[in-house]
Amino acid sequence: MNSFQYAGMPDVIFGEGALKTALDARLPKVGQNVLLAYGGGSIKKNGIYDAVMELLSAHGKTVTGFSGIMANPTYAKVQEGAALVRENHIDFILAVGGGSVIDSCKIVSAQAKMEQDIWKSEFTDHVYPTAFVPFGAVVTVSGTGAEMNGGAVITNEETKQKNGMGGAMADFVILDPSYTLSVPMRQAISGAFDTLSHCMETYFGKPSATNVSDEMNEAVMQNVIRNIRAMIRDPRDVAVRSELMWDSSMAENGILKIGKQTDFQNHMIEHQLGAYTDCNHGQGLAVIHPAVYRHLAEDNTAKFCRFAEKVFHLSKDGRTDLEFALAGIKALEDFIREIGLPTTLTELKANMRPGSVDPTDETILRKVADTCVITPGCARQMSRDEIFEILKECI
Ligand code: NZQ
Ligand code: ZN
Repeated sequence: MNSFQYAGMPDVIFGEGALKTALDARLPKVGQNVLLAYGGGSIKKNGIYDAVMELLSAHGKTVTGFSGIMANPTYAKVQEGAALVRENHIDFILAVGGGSVIDSCKIVSAQAKMEQDIWKSEFTDHVYPTAFVPFGAVVTVSGTGAEMNGGAVITNEETKQKNGMGGAMADFVILDPSYTLSVPMRQAISGAFDTLSHCMETYFGKPSATNVSDEMNEAVMQNVIRNIRAMIRDPRDVAVRSELMWDSSMAENGILKIGKQTDFQNHMIEHQLGAYTDCNHGQGLAVIHPAVYRHLAEDNTAKFCRFAEKVFHLSKDGRTDLEFALAGIKALEDFIREIGLPTTLTELKANMRPGSVDPTDETILRKVADTCVITPGCARQMSRDEIFEILKECI
């Protein structure tokens, strides 16, 4: 177990009807001017926007809308939000959406309090924000776990970088699993796979010797796998959505990371694939994970064997350690196929909007390999040529 400090998580209000209970208790304590941030309009179709507006108006708030936050949010969009906060003297930000809306608000909240450009501050000067406009999050699609940490993933379209940034931590988080019932099934599955990915990126980090965080992680991974299958069988089951929603938060609230150095090499490759192609985050991860893990099987064999046994319930049956490790990775790939996620970049391309940048184009893949972060927590630091080979194997 590595040394650790664990502190400062947001208040979480979980369950059907949580919105009213939570906002009635908290809105009297925040300022008059509220920025209501949301995405491309799903909340107007499923009634969440009306429910939020009703409560904001019942508490007499002056509301400024910040709409149109896109999946894979851009740095330009974040700057638009920060300008709105300044112009309208915003006291409190309410993010209503998924990872994209919540991440945007983390940076809007910080940028609005800073004179200097936050991208330059973080990536050139290595100075991180310390003052924030208070914000709360209402989660409408689960998977990223973005609501329970202060990290934000933002795409700078000019520099073609999709980077993790330091931003605000929400003061409170509202998790109503029934809100996720209207999420299209493909997005719900890719979000849940993102949760599984976060678990694996933590589990296969360092040290590889199993600690209590890893044993808890095994429970969460099994829960995610079981409940993705259950969600596909019965998309209306709120109990299943509850499990997946809390799994999502658990994977990114730091508890499973206690005493670990996380890996996140798959994420770093996917983020650059996203920067160049704007592909869906969970779908990109689904393609990348098995290929990366086949390359790492010899470097972390014992942990992959444990994963095969504890998470996919395989038995060794006379196989060598390496064969068993690879069987676990194959079980992961079979699961990805079973739940309808892409297992190749060609399949990923088929799911993308016409006119999108081609994720099977080798010149793009070379750029992805050349620009992604190489993580210290990975079982082995791979060369850029090896990452390019992995991406070509994914075609
Ligand atoms: O934009 P609207 O119209 O709201 O539609 C959204 C969007 O198209 C839709 N949606 C959301 N709630 C819905 C709904 N549709 C119907 N009913 C509802 N209740 O879902 C689509 C996807 O939303 P988005 O927020 O983009 O998805 P997600 O939560 O997967 O977030 C993805 C972003 O989070 C980043 C990803 O890289 C990506 O940019 N991540 C953030 C992390 C973090 N901060 O900890 C960790 C992750 O690894 C990840 O990188
Ligand atoms: Zn993720």
